[in-house]
Amino acid sequence: MTFPHTRMRRLRRNEPLRALVRETALDPGDFIYPLFICPGEGVRREVSSMPGVFNLSIDEAVREAEACASLGVGGLLLFGLPESKDETGTGAWDENGIVQQALRALKQSAAAKKLVLIADVCLCEYTSHGHCGIVVKAGDAYDVDNDPTLELLARTAVSQARAGADVVAPSDMMDGRVAAIRRALDEASFAETPILSYASKFASAFYGPFREAADSAPQFGDRRSYQMDAANPREALREIELDLGEGADMILMKPAMPYLDVVRAARERFGVPMGAYQVSGEYSMLHAAFQKGWLDPQRAMLESLLGIRRAGADFIVTYFAKDAARLL
Ligand code: PBG
Repeated sequence: MTFPHTRMRRLRRNEPLRALVRETALDPGDFIYPLFICPGEGVRREVSSMPGVFNLSIDEAVREAEACASLGVGGLLLFGLPESKDETGTGAWDENGIVQQALRALKQSAAAKKLVLIADVCLCEYTSHGHCGIVVKAGDAYDVDNDPTLELLARTAVSQARAGADVVAPSDMMDGRVAAIRRALDEASFAETPILSYASKFASAFYGPFREAADSAPQFGDRRSYQMDAANPREALREIELDLGEGADMILMKPAMPYLDVVRAARERFGVPMGAYQVSGEYSMLHAAFQKGWLDPQRAMLESLLGIRRAGADFIVTYFAKDAARLL
């Protein structure tokens, strides 16, 4: 039956009808809001390339958590800007590191009962060279050394679990880190702490503003020897398969908008809980267009999030979490 019997416009006539047949929904509980924790007190320093995103001292982060909880946001993803950095990223697993202190403070707050506290596991915010693992030099060349890095990542995850992280999320892209972290968590009696693996993380230009927010730009070279090539969707599926085999409980796809085909492919192949990270550059480019008056902020923001959900992500890590929750 085609036109004039079938008229697709019949179900688009008014909002109640459209709502009835809507296939995908946005729920604030599916948003995770990233926080960048810095030393000090009363610090709320805006990231110049990310309007509305701040480096927050722990007291301010607790206030932010309370705001998120009352908006119904699902969780927080914690990054740390340590007091000092060194070659091996000692600050990442320090029991009194910035993220560990923040986790303890957040755990004490009422907000913690409503939010999933996720700790990002990586060394790049803590190393003086800004790479995600231990760097070894060979003449003029250098390499990020996979296997010795695993032990440091595992230590980081355990210290975060001990400080109160509900979930640990390795974002470094070292091979074998999920297995190493799982083993270390189990040995330290954190068998119940889930791992959200950034299983499919591409070497992306869209991380640019984050590196200002987290002060983690590599001092030399780039991350292409450990993050994935943007051209490789099949490789992304292998990465996910390996991480699940090593014990990942959930997977995270990153970036989101330029990689929605990969999100969809992962959704079709794997039945596990999956998130997508709408990264800093995705947020900043939309904001730049908002500032110019080129895009309607509310509609473009919600549409970008809906696209990610429609591709198959169960949850979204997004700097829009609060703004979108407020609208919904
Ligand atoms: C750490 C990490 C990065 C992001 C999340 N975890 C940066 C990177 O890989 O360079 C990027 C997030 C964003 O751009 O919002 N490895």
